[in-house]
Amino acid sequence: MNNGQPILTVDHLVATFDTDAGRVRAVDQVSFSLKAGTILGLVGESGCGKSVTALSIMRLLPRPAGVIESGAIRLNGVDLVQLAPDEMHRIRGRRIGMIFQEPMTALNPVHRIGQQLVEVFDLHRPDLDAVQRYQAAVALLSRVGIPEARARMDEYPHQISGGMRQRVMIAMALAGKPDVLIADEPTTALDVTIQAQILELILDLQKETGMAVLFITHALGVIAQICQEVAVMYAGWIVESAPAAALFKKPLHPYTQGLLASMPRLSSENKSVLPIIRGTVPSLHQLPPGCRFQNRCPHVMDRCGKETPGPVAVDDDHWARCFLLEG
Ligand SMILES: Nc1ncnc2c1ncn2[C@@H]1O[C@H](COP(=O)(O)OP(=O)(O)O)[C@@H](O)[C@H]1O
Ligand SMILES: [Mg+2]
Repeated sequence: MNNGQPILTVDHLVATFDTDAGRVRAVDQVSFSLKAGTILGLVGESGCGKSVTALSIMRLLPRPAGVIESGAIRLNGVDLVQLAPDEMHRIRGRRIGMIFQEPMTALNPVHRIGQQLVEVFDLHRPDLDAVQRYQAAVALLSRVGIPEARARMDEYPHQISGGMRQRVMIAMALAGKPDVLIADEPTTALDVTIQAQILELILDLQKETGMAVLFITHALGVIAQICQEVAVMYAGWIVESAPAAALFKKPLHPYTQGLLASMPRLSSENKSVLPIIRGTVPSLHQLPPGCRFQNRCPHVMDRCGKETPGPVAVDDDHWARCFLLEG
């Protein structure tokens, strides 16, 4: 795999849900490209469509309400949206692995950890015999930082801590040696010190395996630590996309600027007076015409309530959806 070449490309993805109050577009015309061997951060407030984007890529939207209405999701050029269910089944785990905020989404509470991990090897490594699969499972548990891995194999998920469960889920996601890992807020439910350890583990594993990672978070600070590229989501849109360094140096979209200004700084003298973005995210059921950020934007103009801003490129790989950027 050539580093820097796009491995996963999401192209004008639209994902919708049918609800009692009608159909909503949770993800609207979302496009981004994950390059081989890199980490792309997808950042935004709760409810902006991050998980729906991830579940669309995995083709795991809750059916029948959730559907991919249009767009393409190409893994090495193959459009996952067009694959038959059995073909997609072979992609999951083996080509794309996923870890979730809550490890119990992936772990079965009534089965021993070892059994669950060996099952993943059964699925993806038919070349190994039973003894080799068991040994591979133990080795992988050790690799993800689980002490006394052999003993842990016989335990149930509830017998270990949340941080250890998250490590088990990472092991399960990586057992098939995927080219792409989707990590959906993998540290959000954990204590701060454990968060840092899990982040470091993901970063180490990324370097070791060369896999590409789509890292989903609501925290820009995490992005700064691990990502090469960033896409900022707001109310179902990507509002800004940039190399991480460029985004932190020169945020273009007023929403990104607000997020950056609200970021806690370790060195700040007056920690208590952080600027925050006023107002709230509009409901998907009542989206205003024009820009979705208009009701919170300090620079709102007449035009923002009438026309939809398209992506405006300012530098190579750096664009935002904002009229302020137009000449
Ligand atoms: N199962 C569902 N049924 C209906 N609407 C949903 C469902 N899941 C998500 N949504 C809608 O999609 C939006 C984005 O959700 P999600 O992607 O989970 O946000 P987040 O960025 O916090 O991961 C939500 O605000 C909600 O309006
Ligand atoms: Mg989510």
